[in-house]
Amino acid sequence: MVRLILLGAPGSGKGTQAKMVAGKRGIPHISTGDILREAVRNGSELGRKAEPIMKAGALVPDELMIGIIRERLRQPDAARGFVLDGFPRTVVQAEKLDALLEEGNGKEPPRVVHLLVPDEVIVQRIAARRSCPACGAIYHLEHAPPRVADVCDQCQGKLVARADDTEAAVRKRLEAYHRQTMPVVGYYRAKSWLREVDGLGSVDEVFERIDGVPG
Ligand code: AP5
Repeated sequence: MVRLILLGAPGSGKGTQAKMVAGKRGIPHISTGDILREAVRNGSELGRKAEPIMKAGALVPDELMIGIIRERLRQPDAARGFVLDGFPRTVVQAEKLDALLEEGNGKEPPRVVHLLVPDEVIVQRIAARRSCPACGAIYHLEHAPPRVADVCDQCQGKLVARADDTEAAVRKRLEAYHRQTMPVVGYYRAKSWLREVDGLGSVDEVFERIDGVPG
C-alpha cells in the first residue's frame, strides 16, 4: 500500500507529481490546497475563513487543517493508500498525522518525499502557471501548455492564474515554507522516513525519481 507524503516549496511541482503518482497507483490525490480552493468557490464557512489567509500567502490554522485531513482520511477510498500534497505543513500537523495513521490500517511508515527546487526556479514556475478551477489540472505556459490557449485540455474549463500567485503572496508563501514547513522536513529526517528528490528536470524525469523511491 502506498501512503506518500509529498513535501516541497510552493511551486516545486507537488500537485503535478501527486496527480501522476495517484493516477498510476489508483489511489486518491489529497491536496489540502485544492480542498480549500473548492471551499472558497462554494462560499462555505471554511472557505470564508480560509480565503483572506490564502490570498495573503499565510497558513490556515492547524486545527482547521487537521479536521479536514481527519475527515478525508476516513473516506473509504483512502484505505487503499493516498498521496498527500500540501499536508503536513507544520510540526503540529505532522504529529497529528502520525497519530491518525497509527489509528488506520497501515503499520508501515509512510513514504515521505521532499522535492528540492531552488527559490529562483520556483518564482519562474509560479509566474507561468495556469490552473483549471473546474478540474484542478495544472499547466505551465512554457513547459506544459494547454493545446488551446487558456482552455483546459481535460474539461474545456477556462484557465486562470491562482489568486495567491501574486508576487507579494508568493514571497510570503516561500517565507512560510522556510519558517514553518522546513521543521517538518527535519521532523521526518529524524525518523529516517525522509527521501530528498531533485525536483529539477522534466516532469517525467522528476516522476521517475519519485516512483523509484523504495518503500
Ligand atoms: P497549496 O495549493 O498546497 O499551494 P503550495 O504549497 O503553495 O503549492 P503550489 O500548489 O503553489 O505548487 P505545487 O508544488 O503544487 O506545484 P505545481 O505542481 O502546481 O496551498 C495553497 C494555500 O492553501 C497555502 O498557501 C495555505 O494558505 C493553504 N494551505 C494548504 N494546505 C495547508 C496546510 N496543510 N496548512 C495550512 N495552510 C494550508 O507546479 C508549479 C508550476 O510549475 C506549474 O505551472 C507546473 O506546470 C510547473 N512544473 C511542475 N513541474 C515542473 C517541472 N519539472 N519542470 C517545469 N515546470 C514544472
